[in-house]
Amino acid sequence: KDISVIGVPMDLGQRRRGVDMGPSAMRYAGLLEQITSLGFNVKDCGDIRIDRPEKEKDPEKNLRNLKEVFAASEKLEKEVDLIVQEGKFPLILGGDHSISIGSIAGISRHYENLGLIWYDAHADLNTGETSPSGNIHGMPLAVNLGLGDSSLRNIGNYSPKVKAENIVIIGARSIDEGEKLLIKEKGIKVFTMHEVDRLGMPKVIEETIHYLSQRTDGVHLSLDLDALDPLDAPGVGTPVMGGLTYRESHLALEMLSEAKIITSAEFVEVNPILDDKNRTADVASELVASLLGKKLVLT
Ligand code: ARG
Ligand code: MN
Ligand code: MN
Ligand code: MN
Repeated sequence: KDISVIGVPMDLGQRRRGVDMGPSAMRYAGLLEQITSLGFNVKDCGDIRIDRPEKEKDPEKNLRNLKEVFAASEKLEKEVDLIVQEGKFPLILGGDHSISIGSIAGISRHYENLGLIWYDAHADLNTGETSPSGNIHGMPLAVNLGLGDSSLRNIGNYSPKVKAENIVIIGARSIDEGEKLLIKEKGIKVFTMHEVDRLGMPKVIEETIHYLSQRTDGVHLSLDLDALDPLDAPGVGTPVMGGLTYRESHLALEMLSEAKIITSAEFVEVNPILDDKNRTADVASELVASLLGKKLVLT
């Protein structure tokens, strides 16, 4: 299948500058060349244009840079919608995790029952009411569920984008009180680090594949690099110790690739300013290759 790559140089969903350089860092890490060498036709659609806010203002309704995040999400929704319409696999490069509001809005209209794997240290299920930070990158999963700010929720003029029962969160280890309540209320499936440790990644992914393939007609992978342990992926704005290893993550994506269930993907939160010689972008680019079928073949 043909792949279209789109960059979203967005850092307004949180307070640490630099994550807007994530798309460049991943391109510099050789992401496009990797994909090409796997035999895919790849088109680089370039980056979305993100408008800078004039100056830092007090967050409206506890949502920092709401206007700018909304405007960027609308643009991304349109671009991603076109990519799916053309029958291509959208690969979106962040940018902070707020970009998934626009990406999933562009994707989900093409499915009856989009599945969503949220590979993340966090649940990103806050709303303006529950967020401890006012950072929109901690809210996109709630928005995609049809909760929180109405302008964000209604991007693409439909809501919700995903049903609670079509979501699987993997790698969570930092969940706020309001998010815990929501997970319980909605019955969202979560493999926290505790479950990953007990079951092992192979079982976690087998269960995820089994669960999602029964009920969905496409699966979007939203991979936040902070799901990985900061030792393996130091270039992220909100690191949490005790995370998934590089090896576990490779295995997860190789298994997803073998199962052929992923229909779109995004890689977010790579911040080269906080990184160690672009290592996190290198890891992201390697993980993309695993997702797209790279493996060692002995002939
Ligand atoms: N739960 C915290 C918040 O809402 C952290 C969110 C981090 N999200 C992320 N995409 N890295 O502010
Ligand atoms: Mn650029
Ligand atoms: Mn995270
Ligand atoms: Mn996240």
